[in-house]
Amino acid sequence: MTSTPTDDIWEAMSTARTIRRFRDEPVGPDVLARCIQAATWAPSGGNQQPWHFVVMTSPEAREALAIGAARALETIERVYRLQRPEPDDDTPRARNSRAMFALHDGAASVPAAVLFCVRDQPSTPSLTLGASIFPAMQNFLLAARALGLGTCVTGWHVGSEPEFRDALAIPEAWRLAGLAIVGWPQGHHGSLRRRPVHEVASLDRWDTPLREGDQPAEA
Ligand SMILES: Cc1cc2nc3c(=O)[nH]c(=O)nc-3n(C[C@H](O)[C@H](O)[C@H](O)COP(=O)(O)O)c2cc1C
Repeated sequence: MTSTPTDDIWEAMSTARTIRRFRDEPVGPDVLARCIQAATWAPSGGNQQPWHFVVMTSPEAREALAIGAARALETIERVYRLQRPEPDDDTPRARNSRAMFALHDGAASVPAAVLFCVRDQPSTPSLTLGASIFPAMQNFLLAARALGLGTCVTGWHVGSEPEFRDALAIPEAWRLAGLAIVGWPQGHHGSLRRRPVHEVASLDRWDTPLREGDQPAEA
């Protein structure tokens, strides 16, 4: 467990778990610009770099965050059947869920929020369009982790697109792809809970799990 900065990409990737509680310290524009520069090192189709990043700081932007978070919370509560934990419940699940509610309740005052936009191409399928912005978003998240920042990807913009567009003056031709909340973590970065490789990867055929040490077929 570490919340320290790291230049080791393997450590950064394997400890960049979601952070929802932040210290009461601002995240300077230079720090965000550094993470955004890392985002711009990502690949995109034809190197079109169809991205634009909006750092959300104004009262209007914060109002949009609050509206988006409240709506997202309604969905999360319904879909995942989440309820606010009892005050004396100290299980890891309750602590996690408490942090989730706290982040959404305090959305207007998160340390920083960055909206990832992608230029629309009407003939391009959404997944293909996404493939030209989400690598940039992941670069951003890893750069933030490398600097010791914590992040939480959210879907707050999804159910509140008009409010986000209005508050941030986003041109019609741009689509809202993702939103990252950023701050100096109150807790620690730490290990991730993920399914093992053999459950999610195949060697040649879908029904043949890829196992560590498997050799590819000879050409
Ligand atoms: C597309 C997307 C939308 C998400 N939306 C929310 C959200 O609205 N609120 C929230 O608290 N976390 C949100 N998350 C964070 C996920 O819950 C988190 O990444 C996941 O549980 C894995 O947690 P870990 O990073 O700690 O391993 C979102 C993540 C993704 C990728």
